[in-house]
Amino acid sequence: MTTDKDNPDNEVLCHCSGTKRGQIRALFLEGRDLEGISRWTGALTGCGGCEWDIEWYLKELKEEGAGAAPSSAAEPPAGDSPEAPAEES
Ligand code: FES
Repeated sequence: MTTDKDNPDNEVLCHCSGTKRGQIRALFLEGRDLEGISRWTGALTGCGGCEWDIEWYLKELKEEGAGAAPSSAAEPPAGDSPEAPAEES
């Protein structure tokens, strides 16, 4: 049986702000960097003792994401491109 305590997303990485691992990952996936995550959550704005842990976790996320980046997200599927609008003359 899995409890909330067993969920690694619930691990608090910044004890000053109460920022959890899952929050950091979600903000990273939205494209925020360390500074943006800090501004959004308040992490790194207290004692600064979490800096190493959060930087390390972001490094892990970047390495994981490097191999799984969606390459076709910005391109429409083949054969599904919109037709050019008819020109009026
Ligand atoms: S533990 Fe994050 S600022 Fe203190």
